[in-house]
Amino acid sequence: MTDGELLERADAVAARAYAPYSTFLVGCALLMRDGQVVEGVNVENASYPLGVCAERNALSTAVTLGYRPGDVEAAAITASPCGGCRQWLFEFGLDRVVFRNRGEVVTLTPGELLPESFEL
Ligand code: THU
Repeated sequence: MTDGELLERADAVAARAYAPYSTFLVGCALLMRDGQVVEGVNVENASYPLGVCAERNALSTAVTLGYRPGDVEAAAITASPCGGCRQWLFEFGLDRVVFRNRGEVVTLTPGELLPESFEL
């Protein structure tokens, strides 16, 4: 699967986001090293800070399916990942993150997205 195709998967799944408060629909598609694709969308809540980003939902689903850090090759996101999601993406050791920002498709490594990131 190409990065463009992965981004198309993120675009398609974004339609299933639950974002009645912001109306900002976000989709994330993860390409696993075994070729599977794991998707996530943002899920908001009336108590605004409790909402969950698409990236974190996708990564949480991947973990639930049995995947671990190192198992994710790439992530495609319909929007630029927020600071917290950059930390999550870093944790999982992806090769690259592809996303749309200001009408352009950007590809960066997790380290480029989050220099000097926190690690234990
Ligand atoms: N959002 C994501 O899903 N991922 C990000 O990295 C940026 C922000 C969501 C959270 C919220 O539901 C909506 O976008 C507006 O901030």
